[in-house]
Amino acid sequence: MTSPDTEAEHVEATNLLYRDPALCDVVQSDSTGARMCQILIESHRPDARTLVDFGCGTGRDLEILAKRFECVGVDLQPGMVDYARKARPGLDIRTGDMRTARLGARMDVVTCMGNSLAYVHDNEAISQVFATFAAHARPEALLVLCSPVAPITRTEPITATVDTPRGPATVSVRHTWDLRTQINTMHRHWVLPSGEEARDEIRRRVLFPRELERYAEDAGFEVLNMSDGAKGALTGPTAYTVALRRLGS
Ligand SMILES: C[S@@+](CC[C@H](N)C(=O)[O-])C[C@H]1O[C@@H](n2cnc3c(N)ncnc32)[C@H](O)[C@@H]1O
Repeated sequence: MTSPDTEAEHVEATNLLYRDPALCDVVQSDSTGARMCQILIESHRPDARTLVDFGCGTGRDLEILAKRFECVGVDLQPGMVDYARKARPGLDIRTGDMRTARLGARMDVVTCMGNSLAYVHDNEAISQVFATFAAHARPEALLVLCSPVAPITRTEPITATVDTPRGPATVSVRHTWDLRTQINTMHRHWVLPSGEEARDEIRRRVLFPRELERYAEDAGFEVLNMSDGAKGALTGPTAYTVALRRLGS
């Protein structure tokens, strides 16, 4: 295999599900991200009408959110965007990098769900992403993130069965944690319905709560809340962060 040339090719090459967005859609069909996001928006900005979702993937969450908001989705991978446009033709989905994208519009809500932020690993690039969030947020707009805030330190593998359109696949998942880079790597070993085996690795950067707060504040947001979800506690490893774009910033 030749090495990937672009960030999008790199992201796609490392994740088996990204090479098959339809399968990605099926595997994540039980996600509660969109519902949780909507609850958070309703409780902080019930008057919100417009929303942009960075790292929107297959557009699954966006499809739910688009019933309530005027939505635009942005994703890095052209293959993912092509799939999302075909599977959900009513949605406005664009190819773009959340480090640099500029849509020329400010929204009531900016979202980055399903750990998409964690695919950006370097501090400088993370600052760029928050600058993108700010560039698309009206004063007092809401920023809603769902991202890893603590490492997964369990080392023993867990095996699960995943229903795919071609039959059941088995996946065995093992995590490793690199404290120096704050990257959690998920090593997956798949046995596909055909009997073929495949391996992939997903590297996600953890931003601890205080760190997340600093990036948000530097970009002009005030963090209102961080929680695991509906119950309001923060225990990790994944958190919903809600922040408000400060007036005048
Ligand atoms: C785990 S998926 C989550 C997708 C969607 N938010 C969801 O919850 O189903 C992460 C997505 O982030 C996208 N992504 C990674 N880096 C990105 C970047 N720099 N700019 C835009 N999208 C990016 C990937 O292409 C992928 O579709």
